[in-house]
Amino acid sequence: MMKKTYGILLIGCGHIGRQHIEDLYGKEEVRVVATVDSDADRASAFARRYGASSFGTDYRPYLADPSVDIVIIATYTDTHLPILRDCVAHGKHVICEKPVATDLAGAREFVRLVKSSDSKVAVSHILRYNRSYRKIKELIDDGEIGELRMARMNQSHRAGEPEHPWDRFLRLMQDCPPLVDCGVHYADVMRWFAGSPIVSVGGVSAKLDADSPIDNYQIMTMELANGCRGYYEVGWSRNVSSNNDKDFIGTKGHISLTMAANRTDGVRDSDLIRIYYGDAEKPDRIIENPSIYKDMYAQFRDLVDMIENGGEGMVPIDDVFEAFRTVVLAVRAIREGRRIVLAEEPD
Ligand SMILES: NC(=O)c1ccc[n+]([C@@H]2O[C@H](COP(=O)([O-])OP(=O)(O)OC[C@H]3O[C@@H](n4cnc5c(N)ncnc54)[C@H](O)[C@@H]3O)[C@@H](O)[C@H]2O)c1
Repeated sequence: MMKKTYGILLIGCGHIGRQHIEDLYGKEEVRVVATVDSDADRASAFARRYGASSFGTDYRPYLADPSVDIVIIATYTDTHLPILRDCVAHGKHVICEKPVATDLAGAREFVRLVKSSDSKVAVSHILRYNRSYRKIKELIDDGEIGELRMARMNQSHRAGEPEHPWDRFLRLMQDCPPLVDCGVHYADVMRWFAGSPIVSVGGVSAKLDADSPIDNYQIMTMELANGCRGYYEVGWSRNVSSNNDKDFIGTKGHISLTMAANRTDGVRDSDLIRIYYGDAEKPDRIIENPSIYKDMYAQFRDLVDMIENGGEGMVPIDDVFEAFRTVVLAVRAIREGRRIVLAEEPD
């Protein structure tokens, strides 16, 4: 049977918009209908590069086009909610970048729109689709390191490198601090790996660059209902390193993850997962895990499955909201110098 072809409208031809469309444009069930960016040159360059039949600076006319089935929202965070509202009003399915909004009221409205419409919406909690994160989840669930007790997660970017210009971070920080923008991924991973809700958050922050508008280095600590603990650390700065290894520590050993891009041994096409056992007699285990860091096609297939077969997909919208609320309250906890118990805190 021929696969159905899905017409795609990409809104936002920047850093993450490129990663979405780069992964999708050659696939047999994908047709890139149009690329849109408020910068016309970017929209036109993307249309040429990815074979779109049209480009523009305003997405709204394309929402009336019946050949558009799926809209990818890859614009700044403060535009996600209004664009989603327009998309679902026109019956379009959506892949939307995280965070869903800039504050809790906006995030609640986002969830309400998703739940009350017939459109299917996948929010880009992209680590859920990453093969190495999925492998580690499987190892933890299989009891490979006993009971998970602690997660150490750093995801920092040394700004100024070609892939990460400082200006891009300055624009992102107008909407959300790094702990919200990127932390939604790791609050979500924490709950997902531990299989338990986060009950309280706290943390510290610092301003590392004099021209940063806000504190651009933050640490969030998390306590979970099952006794597991974790922290997430993020810096968007010219002064931090991008050494982003992750450790998941259990009662019988730990798992370390080094993403392909962070490897120093010359291997570039697979992530390195190492399992170290507390029992000195048991040799370490090494897994070379070929993986795509941001597997946009896997997310697209998840959305197609939601469209064709129903269901909530791999990242239920309530999980998206929980992760967002966790990081917003962590920022509040840092600002007010206290720990916040999530169940007791009003929005
Ligand atoms: N899932 C992830 O891992 C991940 C990674 C990076 C960024 N993001 C998110 O993606 C979003 C974009 O970030 P980025 O790093 O790609 O930024 P970027 O500055 O590289 O690109 C954003 C693009 O959107 C365009 N744009 C903004 N508003 C628009 C509008 N109303 N209509 C049309 N075009 C518009 C801008 O001109 C720009 O080209 C942010 O919400 C960010 O948090 C997610």
